[in-house]
Amino acid sequence: MGPFEYLKENQDKSLEQLKDFLRIPSVSAQSAHKDDIRNCAQWVSDYLIGLGLKSELCETGGHPLVYGEYHVSDDVPTVLIYGHYDVQPVDPLDLWKTSPFEPIEEDGYLIARGATDDKGQLFAHLKGTEAYLKTVGKVPVNLKFMIEGEEEVQSENLDTFIENNKEKFAADIVVVSDGSMYGRDLPAINYGLRGIAFVEVKVTGPDRDLHSGSYGGTVANPINILAKMIGQLHNDDGRIAIDGFYDNTYQMTDWEKEQITKLPFDENEFKASTGSVKLWGEKGFMPLEQTGSRPTLDCNGITGGYQGEGAKTIIPSWASTKITMRLVPKMKPGEICDKIEAFLKKICPDTVKLEVIKHGGANPVLVPTDGPWLDAAAKALKTAFDKEPYFTKEGGSIPVVETFKSALGIDTLLIGFGQHDDNAHSPNERFLVKDFHRGCVTSAALFEELSKVKA
Ligand code: BES
Ligand code: MN
Ligand code: MN
Repeated sequence: MGPFEYLKENQDKSLEQLKDFLRIPSVSAQSAHKDDIRNCAQWVSDYLIGLGLKSELCETGGHPLVYGEYHVSDDVPTVLIYGHYDVQPVDPLDLWKTSPFEPIEEDGYLIARGATDDKGQLFAHLKGTEAYLKTVGKVPVNLKFMIEGEEEVQSENLDTFIENNKEKFAADIVVVSDGSMYGRDLPAINYGLRGIAFVEVKVTGPDRDLHSGSYGGTVANPINILAKMIGQLHNDDGRIAIDGFYDNTYQMTDWEKEQITKLPFDENEFKASTGSVKLWGEKGFMPLEQTGSRPTLDCNGITGGYQGEGAKTIIPSWASTKITMRLVPKMKPGEICDKIEAFLKKICPDTVKLEVIKHGGANPVLVPTDGPWLDAAAKALKTAFDKEPYFTKEGGSIPVVETFKSALGIDTLLIGFGQHDDNAHSPNERFLVKDFHRGCVTSAALFEELSKVKA
């Protein structure tokens, strides 16, 4: 039996094992899940050890990182596989049709928190490894695994850990499956990810909530003020009005524009997939450009005053919002945080106190669009999906990908097995069972193809 037959024969078992992985509520953002996180890291490490790899949990100062290693020969490339075992919080819980950590299968989907982001996708590479070890007895490439537990909280401690352990992670190429295909049955190689910058903004007016009858009209209302400030962040063309925001933005190349024209794209279908009444965005750009190649700004949440049952007539003491900005190459999270702070200070009236907390973020990244590694990935996807992959850019961020290049000098292959409508970060997160199995096949095929590349 070869690796591909092994994967086929063991499909049901693989899915059951993935369900075990998904049952561990490894929410990195919430301290109540600290033990779950560690148990989950241990689960991954034990799985690697069970396959016969060397593996350990590494302390990073935050949630542990799972390291795994397999060496077959000095004459073949070393492939570093990155993934994250942490998941997003599950709220709002009442919108889930099942319990988020009790995976179920329905209409060809596996539904659970982490199914697509990223447990299901990273598990495919454990299975690709297993398929070789259980049939051929060895994998055709050397492997290193870096499975982290803080991706969903900005990979806060990872850069430092990599800086301090460069030798450990030395490799010829990185493989990351933590994104999306282009669509149903349409595999893709991603060649770019946006970066991100985070800020929190709070405006404070009176030192306590005031009766809006006794005081209404005499002091500024922080919610009114904050809403107006937020409204000034975009102009009517959907462009961001922050001074200097676009100073270092990058221009799409002709090759990139050509890739976009090759993609089957239906604007109505896209609109329908969002459930919005109408699309909106920066004027002069199409949706795929807006998400892949243009910087954007969004409030992620807004808080203040009274929203409980019935009426409560107050001028609230404060209002706050969390804002993220998606960045394209050349933009730096630190600089962008400084620019939004300066702009907010400029437009904030002197009737309230303004606080801006800057949280930094992640750098954008572009990876090579040709070369032998990429050809290997394209062949592997063709083997699994029986289709040539498209070239796409993703609007999401994976902080460490830029670090692989800047700190370790290694390029990354971004091959996602998810779908954009897998409900990542939303209720009812899901992963097509079929895509999970094809991801496993891609992984095995990729090891074979990469082994032929002269490192
Ligand atoms: N897997 C996503 C990144 C992603 C999203 C890739 C969409 C491709 C398409 C990752 O887990 C994620 O959610 N990243 C965060 C990063 C942030 C917390 C620094 C993001 O993009 O919001
Ligand atoms: Mn992810
Ligand atoms: Mn995510």
